[in-house]
Amino acid sequence: MSLLEISNLTARYGAGEVLKGISVSVGEGEIVALLGANGAGKSTTLRSISGLVPHVSGTISLGGVSLLGKSVEAIARLGVAHVPEGRRVFPGLTVTENIRLGASNRKGVAAADLQRELEEKFELFPDLVRLRHALGWTLSGGQLQMVALARGLMAKPRVLLLDEPSLGLAPLIVQQVFRIIAEIRRRGTTVLLVEQNANMALSVADRGYVLETGQVLVQGKPAELWNDPQVRAAYLGGMSA
Ligand SMILES: Nc1ncnc2c1ncn2[C@@H]1O[C@H](COP(=O)(O)OP(=O)(O)OP(=O)(O)O)[C@@H](O)[C@H]1O
Ligand SMILES: [Mg+2]
Repeated sequence: MSLLEISNLTARYGAGEVLKGISVSVGEGEIVALLGANGAGKSTTLRSISGLVPHVSGTISLGGVSLLGKSVEAIARLGVAHVPEGRRVFPGLTVTENIRLGASNRKGVAAADLQRELEEKFELFPDLVRLRHALGWTLSGGQLQMVALARGLMAKPRVLLLDEPSLGLAPLIVQQVFRIIAEIRRRGTTVLLVEQNANMALSVADRGYVLETGQVLVQGKPAELWNDPQVRAAYLGGMSA
């Protein structure tokens, strides 16, 4: 059975349905990419999983436990961490303080263990070491993304939801971010990755789904998506496989 199972999910904010019955599954240890054009419903899918969309129906379950209708905090405690579009690092807090916030939904963890985990994050993101005490507002886009990823990992999630981690970053930094995503999975965390950068996303993903106006247009392994003419034309920028 897959770890995260979404079936027939519909979602709306107000009047119109934004997700029209999508089904997505993410197996334990996988990186699954969710691709699609602006407004396709990628962020809404992640927000629905996290409990941030007011009107949802269908099923969403994690390890067989239903998430639908549960509070954002309860969903986080069950093992979902969401790194949102735009990173949302607190500008007035330091890098260390921002990262520590990721553990705020975990109860009863010894301070020494949290400190050890924090140090592990700095090993994963060595560029942040010299920035431990830097305030959020002083960081570059790439540094903010590293902090947001580290904060998500401090939740020790069963599944990490990443919304457009490469958005607005220079190509070299994008490559660095994707190397880290691959390393995060190698260390055992399952990842559902939303990206407009389909080329990079499919380079690290095990499987992918393409959303179009709230529906799954096509799904498959990266090679299958690469070779799908419809997908190539719309999302892969005409690059050769
Ligand atoms: N808070 C909201 N209230 C009302 N409508 C919303 C809200 N957030 C998103 N929408 C609408 O839902 C649709 C899907 O948006 P969503 O943000 O999920 O798309 P997306 O695939 O993440 O796009 P992008 O690539 O631009 O981030 C869009 O038509 C958008 O305008
Ligand atoms: Mg989005």
